[in-house]
Amino acid sequence: MAENKHERALIIDFGSQVTQLIARRLRESGVYCEIHPFNKVDDGFLESYNPQAVILSGGPASVTWEDSPRVPPAVFSRKVPVLGICYGQQVMMEQLGGRVESGTSREFGRAFIDKVLDDPILDGLSFDGEGEQVWMSHGDHVAEMANGFFVIAKSAGAPYAVIADPERQFYGTQFHPEVVHTLHGSKMLENFTHKIAGLKGDWTMAAYRDEAIEKIREQVGSGRVICGLSGGVDSSVAAVLIHEAIGSQLTCVYVDHGLMRMNESEQVVSLFREHYNIPLVHVDASDLFLGELDGVSDPERKRKIIGKLFIDVFEEEAKKIGGADFLAQGTLYPDVIESVSAIGGPSVTIKSHHNVGGLPERMNMQLVEPLRDLFKDEVRALGRELGLPDAFIGRHPFPGPGLAIRIPGEITRDKADTLRKADAIYLEELRNAGLYDKIWQAFAVLLPVNTVGVMGDERTYENVLALRAVTSTDGMTADYFPFEHDFLGRVATRIINEVKGVNRVVYDITSKPPGTIEWE
Ligand code: XMP
Repeated sequence: MAENKHERALIIDFGSQVTQLIARRLRESGVYCEIHPFNKVDDGFLESYNPQAVILSGGPASVTWEDSPRVPPAVFSRKVPVLGICYGQQVMMEQLGGRVESGTSREFGRAFIDKVLDDPILDGLSFDGEGEQVWMSHGDHVAEMANGFFVIAKSAGAPYAVIADPERQFYGTQFHPEVVHTLHGSKMLENFTHKIAGLKGDWTMAAYRDEAIEKIREQVGSGRVICGLSGGVDSSVAAVLIHEAIGSQLTCVYVDHGLMRMNESEQVVSLFREHYNIPLVHVDASDLFLGELDGVSDPERKRKIIGKLFIDVFEEEAKKIGGADFLAQGTLYPDVIESVSAIGGPSVTIKSHHNVGGLPERMNMQLVEPLRDLFKDEVRALGRELGLPDAFIGRHPFPGPGLAIRIPGEITRDKADTLRKADAIYLEELRNAGLYDKIWQAFAVLLPVNTVGVMGDERTYENVLALRAVTSTDGMTADYFPFEHDFLGRVATRIINEVKGVNRVVYDITSKPPGTIEWE
């Protein structure tokens, strides 16, 4: 838990798919907040966290089920404003003396609400015409309000769309204000935190940076820190921040596995060595990695081999520089949020995307994770605050295993070279067309499929290359990017003309779910 220097809101999670969005919206309006599962919030926690506003998330359970999740009762006795969203609204009603019914039909999608009573939660909303557009997604509904509550807004299908007990400052919405389809949902959440709970919004990146630096100094003391740089935004921002805090006590290690993008290694090395003057060990381990990957086509085995070799190489380099007391990682908030399962059990999911997993125990190092409280867009803002070049901060995410998972089937150096060239042309065209920053991630995939083509008078029999481009806010869900056909045509022509080994280009129009962003 971060130290208590800011105003802070608490989001109690009941397992909704969109709980993280509540946190994002709050932070966008300058309110520091954390998400904690309902079954981990007890009196002691509430006392030390001391929230000035509490939001109860939605969730997949029904309050009519036996043993369904409940709000820790102390939440209602702390005299702080509470907003219950969907399941949060229903469970609050149930616990405060109202009644909830299971609907005969579930309600999903767009609805329009009308104002019933004036209330600050509705400030800035417009009820002209059809009313305010909101997004519903629920099975149960409130059938009777608890004492002290009034209806603030209703829709055709939801007589209790927004309810409030103005005396106790308890609010409930049947819809989800955190999703973008609720047109003024962010405004409603800001009304709740700023107007009702009276928060000022004192969470800024400049303040975060200063506090993070102070915390790093406190944690590390005079110890040595080692940081694995991947070339990605997260580890780079973490490294620059730590360097500001402790200077030459930090050493970065950049392991080139031979599966990086075009010129990537040179860029990383020059940024860190020349621009920031940060001690950097650059290891060219491409022979080792490509050797061990020879003949391997199973995606999971590829990942395992790369992960293990990465640790071996990293460990060896760390020993060469005399070891370290701390390992720095660019772990982000979405990686550490504990989520609750549909049945309310404390199922904990912590992603282990990080290449250096396993090292801290093996080398007896403690972790320094200065980005643990931040979402990706906040990391970018922090990077800007630290003066990292925009072109670097805006780079698309790149997976640890690199091009290995963009070459389905067996990997060879030739294939990696072919893919690198095609990928570079694609990215260059995206930049030229001003599209790069509109896209979360774009890359090429070299398929293990040969097709017949004709170039000049010659028949060719070469690889198919797939182009992928998606929009996303966090990589959890994604949509394919709707390019103009002209653009796709231009990229395909350039790749086929300029990259030997590719004679056909296709565009992947799968969203996530059901597809994943990467092909392996
Ligand atoms: P998928 O393919 O699961 O990817 O939709 C979601 C996001 O995660 C990235 N990704 C990885 N990042 N190590 C990483 O550091 C990995 O092993 C890894 N696998 C996928 C992917 O690029 C996308 O941004």
